[in-house]
Amino acid sequence: MFEIKYRDALGRIGILDINGKKIETPTIMPVIHPNPKKQVVPIDFIKKLTDIIITNSYITYITKSLRELALKVGIHKLIGFDKVIVTDSGSFQLGTYGDVKVSPREIIEFQEKIGVDVGTILDIPTPPDVEKEKAEKDLEETLRRAKEAIELKREKNFKMLLNGTIQGSTYLELRQRAAREMAKLNFDIYPIGAVVPLMESYRFKEVAEIIINSKMNLPTNKPVHLFGCGHPMLFALAVALGCDLFDSAAYILYAKDDRYLTERGTLSLEELKDLKSFPCSCPICSQYTPKELYQLEKKERERILAEHNLYVTFEEMNRIKEAIKNGSLWELVEERVRAHPKLLEAYRVLKNYMYYIERFDPVIKKTAFFYSGVESLFRPEVYRHKKRLKRIKYEKVYITTVSKDIERPYSENLNVKETDVDILIKHPIFGYIPYYIDTIYPLSQHEAPELYDFEKEINKKFQEEFLEFLKKKGVKVLNIVEYNYYINSIGKFNSDSFRIKRMLEYQYGYDIIKDKKIKVVRSKNTGRLRQVLDENDNILFSVRSHDNLLIPSKLGAKLLWENIPFPKYRVVVNKEAEPFIREGRNVFAKFVIDCDEDIRPYEEVLVVNEDDDLLGYGTAILNGIEMKEFSTGLAVKVRGGIK
Ligand code: GUN
Ligand code: ZN
Repeated sequence: MFEIKYRDALGRIGILDINGKKIETPTIMPVIHPNPKKQVVPIDFIKKLTDIIITNSYITYITKSLRELALKVGIHKLIGFDKVIVTDSGSFQLGTYGDVKVSPREIIEFQEKIGVDVGTILDIPTPPDVEKEKAEKDLEETLRRAKEAIELKREKNFKMLLNGTIQGSTYLELRQRAAREMAKLNFDIYPIGAVVPLMESYRFKEVAEIIINSKMNLPTNKPVHLFGCGHPMLFALAVALGCDLFDSAAYILYAKDDRYLTERGTLSLEELKDLKSFPCSCPICSQYTPKELYQLEKKERERILAEHNLYVTFEEMNRIKEAIKNGSLWELVEERVRAHPKLLEAYRVLKNYMYYIERFDPVIKKTAFFYSGVESLFRPEVYRHKKRLKRIKYEKVYITTVSKDIERPYSENLNVKETDVDILIKHPIFGYIPYYIDTIYPLSQHEAPELYDFEKEINKKFQEEFLEFLKKKGVKVLNIVEYNYYINSIGKFNSDSFRIKRMLEYQYGYDIIKDKKIKVVRSKNTGRLRQVLDENDNILFSVRSHDNLLIPSKLGAKLLWENIPFPKYRVVVNKEAEPFIREGRNVFAKFVIDCDEDIRPYEEVLVVNEDDDLLGYGTAILNGIEMKEFSTGLAVKVRGGIK
């Protein structure tokens, strides 16, 4: 029902199949009034922008004329939109007025009857900061209604998909519990509810924590909808935290107050009216000057402003998708969070959850890591490097610095011979960069300004801890002053196998080479590593040029399989899939019966059967958690099968 196509951070470009209607996520559902006469923006305009909208089943239910028409012709004809229609349940009205005139069961049945594509339970949106007992009591009732709705759907064989909203107020343990309990009920989509009051008061840090604490306890194979979040300035961060769906009433609500949305915040038409033209080139802003728009009569002004608001809303979502595809979502997030200190505060809280976030963040990206401030020091790429530094089986280590005028990668630009001792170069972002692996993403593929002293200090503690770690392991640690002057006097020289051993240890955590005799092929022009061969000149690994990962050939895959103990780096498929994988076909998630939970997206992995016979090798599209939870889409893009 949901599959991942591209990914970055916890964000994903996915395909959501809603009874045969396919929606690409992340996306935004404009809120549409069920009464066509009350629609601010013409539905034909909406249709051009989106394949999915959200409307309100409760308003439809309590308004006699709408109810009768909806029951007669269905919600799609009522609204004049034949693609996906999601409905909310009246929970928002329940939250606002304290009461609704429909039972939880009735509103579920009504949504199915009027032909809704995705309906919503009548969850209780507990506001922030209530007494914990109240939040618990509300949550119990929401869970009861959730169970009732799921049973009803099963009993009566409902066609519509169901939203199971996560509540729990500002209590993170209640959000966690809600997510765990709702997960058991197997809803189709999981909205995160009752965050509107937090967003309205700029309590973005709490919103971020609520999202992460919910995500950590929800199945990875279901889309998450951030209910009531329609401001484009929040999208990048929310998508990076794993939200797939958004709804926007904001485009109308802001327009009603003469407010103009931008991806950096909100402007008022009043303050814009003296500008010669708008700071946007959407069809609306290209057609009107601020003054012209300002002078229009209220109704028309509202519609036109709402149209601009929709354009920027979709534009930002498209920008986010582009960033996911090229691996620069963190860079976009770091730009956006600087629009407001409260957003920056929300971003900063991610540091505490990096152990979780890192599991989902691709190991390689198409674009370089751009440092944009001290928060970048805590990004998953850095976190992962610091963990993986410990994978290398050091014996004797030289600690050194490299003078600033020497460009990366050091191992290519320093005109020195190679040694078979480890040289760790102190680095202000990554802590230490081992000389032999310094071409691997992101150790060479990053850009940063000269750091301030206080930023450099942040790594000091890590560096000290790492030295302690080495000493505990019995590694001999020596200091040399500056690499470029002293290097020629240490160790044995020209050990390509030592370099490859280290690169593979960093990539896989095991010694793959051991005593095997290997050779390397370098580019004639640049001297860069291109291939790793065995004694008989068979290719074992190719060095991928943009990230320098070692990509195995069939022989390389066998070597990995021999030297990495089961279940590490394994994806286990069922008997049925075995012949297909051996033919070199891709692994789909439905074939996966087990796997190494520590697999990260875009790592090179081994495909095996239950007896650990090697069937193929390829690139993981899903991480080790997702492989087990997803049932549709690609799990491993296979490079080759093994007969
Ligand atoms: N719209 C905004 N917040 C909520 C919520 O918590 N629940 C539902 N059902 N709709 C919402
Ligand atoms: Zn515009």
